[in-house]
Amino acid sequence: MDGSNHNYEFTNDWFQAAAIKNWDSLVPQIKPRKILEVGSYEGASACYLIGKNDWHEDLELFCIDTWEGGITHKVAKVDMDAVEQRFDHNISVAQTESGKNISVHKMKGMSSDLMPKLIAFDDCLWKENKPHGDDLTMSPKLAIDAFTNVFSRKLKIVPAPLYQLYVLKIAD
Ligand SMILES: C[S@@+](CC[C@H](N)C(=O)[O-])C[C@H]1O[C@@H](n2cnc3c(N)ncnc32)[C@H](O)[C@@H]1O
Repeated sequence: MDGSNHNYEFTNDWFQAAAIKNWDSLVPQIKPRKILEVGSYEGASACYLIGKNDWHEDLELFCIDTWEGGITHKVAKVDMDAVEQRFDHNISVAQTESGKNISVHKMKGMSSDLMPKLIAFDDCLWKENKPHGDDLTMSPKLAIDAFTNVFSRKLKIVPAPLYQLYVLKIAD
């Protein structure tokens, strides 16, 4: 997405003006396969990711937006229904042009409602076998215990078999 595609419908150049230089340097280093975006608007950043991606055949994007806009959009009386329609259109153009199997999951709502609330820690009792015995300091358990202790008032541990720990977020 370099702005030269006349099939796109963008009404601003926020992404081109501000973010693209950083993303041009960062994204190829990370080569993400699964991306969660909060705040998609007309889809400029999402279309950039779809167009730029030449590292995964099965890139997956999760685009969260209320499509209600923030206070600045409300003050400026931006027609957010039209913004959402342009998002749909632009994503469809980007997907068609990419020639790859790119899934875009459009998730409409507040990020705080839609972001995952159930965390699964896998393999938490994995440990290194040392001559003197199992070395638990090399296991994920310490970090997971620290996390669940620090956030103990905001989490509920869901009972499950060993090696996985399921934690439910119950407060912000
Ligand atoms: C500056 S625009 C995003 C620009 C877009 N990434 C681009 O490349 O053009 C910010 C968007 O974030 C959305 N938004 C802000 N806070 C949100 C939240 N907590 N949950 C969902 N969407 C949110 C607004 O509706 C708005 O569409």
